Amino acid sequence: MSKKIFSGVQPTGNLHLGNFLGAIKNFVDLNKEKENECIFCVVDLHAITIKQDKGQLQNNIRETAATFIASGIDPNKSIIFNQSKVQAHAEGSWILSCMSPMGWLNRMTQFKEKAGKDKEKASVGLYIYPILMASDILLYDTTHVPVGEDQKQHLELTRDIAQKFNKDFNCEDFLKVPEPLIKKKFSRIMSLKDGLKKMSKSDPSDLSRINLTDTKDDIINKIKKAKTDSFAIPSEEHDLIDRPEAVNLLGIYSSISNQTLVKTLEEFGGKNFSDLKKDLAEVLTNKISPISDEIKKLINDKGYLDNILKQGASKAEEIAGKKIREMKKIIGF
Ligand code: AMP
Ligand code: TRP
Repeated sequence: MSKKIFSGVQPTGNLHLGNFLGAIKNFVDLNKEKENECIFCVVDLHAITIKQDKGQLQNNIRETAATFIASGIDPNKSIIFNQSKVQAHAEGSWILSCMSPMGWLNRMTQFKEKAGKDKEKASVGLYIYPILMASDILLYDTTHVPVGEDQKQHLELTRDIAQKFNKDFNCEDFLKVPEPLIKKKFSRIMSLKDGLKKMSKSDPSDLSRINLTDTKDDIINKIKKAKTDSFAIPSEEHDLIDRPEAVNLLGIYSSISNQTLVKTLEEFGGKNFSDLKKDLAEVLTNKISPISDEIKKLINDKGYLDNILKQGASKAEEIAGKKIREMKKIIGF
C-alpha cells in the first residue's frame, strides 16, 4: 500500500549518527519504495525555539538539506523544503493550539528536559513546539512518520490532536491520524561517553557523538576513545544487562551493518572491545565518509541547494495551502 511519509529535522547543526540511524537512514529506505510519497522538511521554525545565530541558521538550513541528499534521498522523488517558506505550518499551529488542552502539553517530557530547572525562562515556543510538529504532519494527510524513539510522545500527541479536531468540528476523518514509524531496535543511539545519555547535537563534548561531517580520522579517534566497561563482549543478549556502553556500541555496529544484535554477538562474543572498536571504526568510516564528502561538496553549491528548497516549498505549498484553506472553512473563517 502506498504511504504518505512526512518527517522533519531541525537545522541546529552537528547532525550526528543518532540522527542518521534513528531517522535519516529510514527516510532513504522509504524514499526508495516506489509507491511512497515522501516529504522531508528542514524544520527551521522549530529551530528558533532556542536562540539561533542568524548566519549560522542559514548555513544549517542548507547543510540539513545537503545531508538529506548526500544520504541518498532523491530530491526528484521526494519533496525537500524548509518549513518557514510555507505559511500554512505556522497558521495551522495557531489553530491547533487553540484546541489543545494545556494538560496534554504539560505531559511532554522533552519540554521538561529542554527547559531544564528554570522553566519560567523557557520560551512559550519551546512549550508549544509539539503543536507545530502536529501541524507539520497533519497538513499533508500524512499516514506514516519515521522518527527516532525520542519523538514517540510527540506523535501520540499529534494523534490526539487530530482526533480532537475531527470530533470538535464534527468532520470525521478530515485530519488523518498518522502512524509512527519507529524502529523496534536501535532507535535511540546513545552518547559515546555515557551509555545512559542520548547522543545529542547539544552535548558540549564533541567526543560524545559522530558528526555526519566528521573525517575518517575523527571517526577512528572518537571510537577509540568511546567509553566501555572492563568485561569481555558476551555471546548472549541477556549478559548485556546493565552494560549500556556495550549495548550502544554493539547496537551501532548492528544497525550500520544491517544485521541483528544476535548476529553481532555471534561475531564478537568472547572478544575484547579493542576488536569491536577496530571493526566498528571501519564500518562507520565506510558508511559515513562518502556521505561526509558529499555534504561538503553540496554545501559549496548554494545555488543548487536553494533551488531544491525553492522547488520543494512550491510543491509543499500546494498541498498544505489547500488543507489549511479547508481547515479554516471548517472552523468558520
Ligand atoms: P532533531 O535533530 O532533534 O531534529 O532530530 C531529528 C531526528 O533524529 C528525529 O527523528 C529524532 O528522533 C532523531 N534522533 C535525534 N537524536 C537521536 C538519537 N540519539 N538516536 C536516535 N534518533 C535520534
Ligand atoms: N520535533 C522533531 C525533532 O526534534 C522534528 C520535527 C518537527 C518533526 N516536525 C516534525 C519530526 C514532523 C517528524 C514530523 O526531532
